[in-house]
Amino acid sequence: MIETKILKINHNDAEKLKEAADIIKNGGVVAIPTETVYGLAASVYDENAVKKIFKAKGRPQDNPLIVHIGEPSQLYEIAANVPLNAEKLVQQFMPGPLTIILPKSERIPDIVTAGLKNVAVRMPLHKTAREFIKYCGVPLAAPSANISGSPSPTSAQHVYDDLNGKIPLIIDGGECTVGVESTVISLVGNIPELLRPGAITVEQLEEVLGEISVNPAILEEVNSNERVSSPGLLHKHYSPKTKLIAVKGSTIDFARYVNAKKDKSVCALVFEEDKDLLEVPFITYGKKDDYHSQERALFKSLRQIDCLKKDICYTQLPNDEKEGLAVLNRLLRAAEFSVINANNSFIIVGLTGKTGGGKSTISRILEEKGAAVIDCDKVAREVFSEDNNLLGELSEEFGNSIIKDGVLDRKALASLAFKDKKSIEKLNSITHPHITKSVYSKLSELKDKGVHVVVIDAAALIESKISEKCDIIVVTHAPYEERLKRIRERDGLTEKEALLRISAQKDDDFYISKADYLINNFYPNSIEEQLKPLLKRLGL
Ligand code: TXA
Ligand code: MG
Repeated sequence: MIETKILKINHNDAEKLKEAADIIKNGGVVAIPTETVYGLAASVYDENAVKKIFKAKGRPQDNPLIVHIGEPSQLYEIAANVPLNAEKLVQQFMPGPLTIILPKSERIPDIVTAGLKNVAVRMPLHKTAREFIKYCGVPLAAPSANISGSPSPTSAQHVYDDLNGKIPLIIDGGECTVGVESTVISLVGNIPELLRPGAITVEQLEEVLGEISVNPAILEEVNSNERVSSPGLLHKHYSPKTKLIAVKGSTIDFARYVNAKKDKSVCALVFEEDKDLLEVPFITYGKKDDYHSQERALFKSLRQIDCLKKDICYTQLPNDEKEGLAVLNRLLRAAEFSVINANNSFIIVGLTGKTGGGKSTISRILEEKGAAVIDCDKVAREVFSEDNNLLGELSEEFGNSIIKDGVLDRKALASLAFKDKKSIEKLNSITHPHITKSVYSKLSELKDKGVHVVVIDAAALIESKISEKCDIIVVTHAPYEERLKRIRERDGLTEKEALLRISAQKDDDFYISKADYLINNFYPNSIEEQLKPLLKRLGL
């Protein structure tokens, strides 16, 4: 066991850089910062020193290392030849988070390339890294400075957590600004081939090189006896100790899938915007549409998962295979390609609020966008005319005068049932179970039909407990005066009748406290505008 020092070094700290470079010159290894992840470096020409890298990391011998250069001219001592495409890439992206695979020069020992005829070269953007290479006087072979298989380190502390006692020095150059390892592109075949996605995207590379091919192992599990152009594609990678499972599907599918397991030992890895939807412990990794923020946060977050001490962590995936490719690739590998599809979504939106608040406008908008709507007023009318059991129960309570010619006389019932609060409650307690039953059977019909989003428009959504089946509750709100006016016009009621119906409902706070989304009908923002976040969440 050796003592591991962490030393903060700036690109202009000549003394310290010289001191650290002496370790390399004397055949040792040093952990260095780069803009992508921390690396564990040794002189590329010193086989014994390179062996120490493999030993400290526990890295399989068949996985080659990247050679880091401090200036472009060093490329010509590493590679046997430098094709025009390589020069174009150097021009555009070096220094930067890009690694190029080229035919190797004879000077490079086999251990560095794991016996391959090609060598991986990169020039980091991190100033301290480049200065350090210059002080060492030789290019440095350096893989990521983590224990093999664990998440790559993006801070000096991460390196320390993995390699304390195994290496003499960690140069602390701050947190990595990119956060995922470099993009790896091979220029040895006929067509340039992406071997590992990173912050420099396929699209950016294609602007310089024309069309490139993308190695299939980036997003799919490969059989270990298949030949792969980069051995690193085969190895298990980036995994926290907690078992990671990737979940494909919309935000709401994800939340529902994970929340259903809240009594088990589970946690979640999610985008910052979605954390409030979760009922299990979570770690976030960047913002949904900001791929660089995801890259920056990913490895740190993967390390933090273990602190939650759960058996399983479910993770969201970036919803884009272009800019999100690097993160998608790391997460799929960290999850060992265990992916669950939660996408057979059936989302139930409950829409309620005091009568006259504008529910029907909202359900019409949602319907136009593709949701199916169950209108409980309509269901109630159907139930009144078709459900004979209900008719029996009602006449038992309100007398036979509510039946005319064998059918319900709705006017007669209304005049008896809406005469005071108590009668309204009685009416509800008889009708709600029948209406609820009918709503549930409509729900399962819609589900069988493959409908994705259903809106249940119900004034008594909460009182009837239909709300308990809903994934999202939307509450409408309008000023009292306005509501009174609307229901009088709509239902042709006297002021007294209208007042009674309004007062039979719970007060505003009751509804508002249950709302996931509150839509204010008399707001400067139009209802359409207010509905935007909901529509986004529903994928409509
Ligand atoms: O951003 C980075 O590239 C970081 C920092 C430290 O520079 N380094 C890094 O190294 O990620 P490492 O060893 O963890 O990953 C190197 C990847 C592996 O997937 C390896 O198989 C591939 O590059 N590679 C290296 N040499 C290769 C070669 N000659 N042919 C094909 N693939 C190669
Ligand atoms: Mg690595």
